[in-house]
Amino acid sequence: MLGGKKILIGVTGSIAAYKTLILTRLLIKAGAEVKLIMTPAAKDFVTPLSLSTISKNQVLTDLVDKGSWANHVMLGRWADIMLIAPLSCNTLAKMANGQCDNLLLAVYLSATCPVLLAPAMDEDMWKHPTTRININKLESYGNKLIPVGNGELASGLFGEGRMAEPETIIEHLENILSPKKTLSGKKALVTAGPTYEQIDPVRFIGNHSSGKMGIAIAKELAERGASVYLVLGPSSINADIPGVEIKRVSTAKEMYEACLEKFPTSAIAVMSAAVSDYSPIHFSKDKIKKIGETFSLELAKTKDILKTLGQQKKDGQLLVGFALENHQEREYAIKKLTEKNADIIVMNSLNDEGAGFGHDTNKITIFEKDGQELSYDRKAKQQVAADIVDRIVKMMYA
Ligand code: CTP
Repeated sequence: MLGGKKILIGVTGSIAAYKTLILTRLLIKAGAEVKLIMTPAAKDFVTPLSLSTISKNQVLTDLVDKGSWANHVMLGRWADIMLIAPLSCNTLAKMANGQCDNLLLAVYLSATCPVLLAPAMDEDMWKHPTTRININKLESYGNKLIPVGNGELASGLFGEGRMAEPETIIEHLENILSPKKTLSGKKALVTAGPTYEQIDPVRFIGNHSSGKMGIAIAKELAERGASVYLVLGPSSINADIPGVEIKRVSTAKEMYEACLEKFPTSAIAVMSAAVSDYSPIHFSKDKIKKIGETFSLELAKTKDILKTLGQQKKDGQLLVGFALENHQEREYAIKKLTEKNADIIVMNSLNDEGAGFGHDTNKITIFEKDGQELSYDRKAKQQVAADIVDRIVKMMYA
């Protein structure tokens, strides 16, 4: 699966660099093209000569090489992926702060390809609040993290912080470069965006939902092989995605009807739309004139799509709902989980900066029917979608 892939490996100063020799050999055997960059400190642990011999490529260490400038921009463009393995605490901190005092950092800052991180450090360093902040920062930029292992550390202590084994790193590289279509053959129903409830020909009741979160989920499900039916309320976001069929709707009633038709044949349903809870009882064919000092509108409750699907759900179907709250968030999310017979409720709080309507980021907590509760950091919505779909996949194949 890695045959022909161009992999750029950054090596930093850590004893785990010995594993990079084995990793490079495995990648070359798998048919990948490997180029390596080392920080000055990395050379204390492995030599450029051993890495260049194994990779069959010159190993770069300096911004200036024999009087000529190493083109860091082109290296980042050449690569299908940049892997930093081992990633030391020091280089991590520099990356999180945009420092650029060696070739590896210059390439990292100018790389346009995906970046994968394989940290290696002592457990106390790994758990230090500064390291946590730095890791979260890089993840929020879209860099992917390979979890550290647990075991004997260079200090002689046992704990978390070991760099992942070469075979595990290869699995992560394969997942990014040739993602497994874990949802192939599955049908998924997704709702997104607001609904507009017409009052008269020119007015409606709506909300600020942009549809970004639901569209990101539809994209993620499609990328993992599902055929997705996206029921999309009025949204200006481009949802033209391969593998996603779009059904445009306007009102809560139209959304309800579209969902009820598709749900029986769907294995997964993700209700992320901000459906209007109430709709005007009467639609005025003529534009309503401003006559009195006050104006009342009689509204009737719309049908709860999530709840209805929860009542119809059969074995093998997985139902996901959303909860946008601004107080007693946890209690309300758990209540929705049981009341709507959902398998997963994704909660976001209006009190969190960069979460909810309109933002490009979101911060979620996932509540699952078996009582699991998972809180995530603020991330780009596409990454939040990947976290949600990870949980869906995990639950489907549990
Ligand atoms: N939902 C739905 N159909 C509706 C209303 C909401 O499918 N008519 C779904 C949303 O897509 C979301 C979840 O239900 O997944 C939100 O739950 P809801 O109870 O509507 O939350 P609120 O609108 O915040 O209402 P409440 O005041 O009951 O908390």
